[in-house]
Amino acid sequence: MLEKINETTEFLKAKGIVNPDAGIILGTGLGGLTAKMENCLEIDYRDIPNFPVSTVEGHAGKLIYGDFGKKKIVAMKGRFHYYEGYGPEQVSLGVRVLKYLGIKCLFLSNAAGGVNPTFRIGDIMIITDHINLLPNPLIGPNDDRIGARFPDMGEAYDKYLIKKALVIAEDLKIRVHKGVYLSTSGPTFETPSEYKYFRIIGADAVGMSTTPEVIVARHMNLPVFAVSIITDLGVEGKIAYTTHQSVLDEAAKTEERMTALMTEMISTL
Ligand code: HPA
Repeated sequence: MLEKINETTEFLKAKGIVNPDAGIILGTGLGGLTAKMENCLEIDYRDIPNFPVSTVEGHAGKLIYGDFGKKKIVAMKGRFHYYEGYGPEQVSLGVRVLKYLGIKCLFLSNAAGGVNPTFRIGDIMIITDHINLLPNPLIGPNDDRIGARFPDMGEAYDKYLIKKALVIAEDLKIRVHKGVYLSTSGPTFETPSEYKYFRIIGADAVGMSTTPEVIVARHMNLPVFAVSIITDLGVEGKIAYTTHQSVLDEAAKTEERMTALMTEMISTL
């Protein structure tokens, strides 16, 4: 594993990706953030050794390095989901490589269904904790050079970054919630009973990504900040027919607010 990480990292360094301040994994609805990057170097996943290629519409499959305000960031435009058939190593490689490139913290975004009855479609939820119902990406032999066998997850989402995001959201007058993100394998959206169950066990929103990447990041002690865009509601009486397109459409409407929040978060790192 470490050999692959090193090979990919060296390849990207040789391409000119050096000393990035932060990494960002752009889920549904945050792709537009890269339009704000300058002096960009774009590399297709298919041209990067060991990188899987994302297969889902709305996930571009490009690594983009460039200036974002005064900071240098590496953005993964397109991520890898378990439902695509990838294994834990493929799902986690990108995050590991970002860490080995030198990022100081990792930002993530996703689209999610709201199960908290106070949520509305288009709301932004700052993730404060998660319930991982996907296979744990750390299952298998552990390489102690990368991280501990049994990583603590008591504070997976960086408290300081959450606090800062709340202040920024208030300044920008962006409605945000704090909440618990629960991940399922997908690719089916939930039945009404599943949504109800996830609410009962403590979730505020449910999606199909993010927790594997967060676990891998925390394995390497990388601070994490993550947000969900609520694109549909899994609340009794409010459940509507959901498609990938309806998720993309709702996420697109929130993109501007989400990008504003993330922009401020990164530029004041
Ligand atoms: N469930 C799971 N994943 C999702 C949802 C949902 O309701 N909305 C967007 N991603």
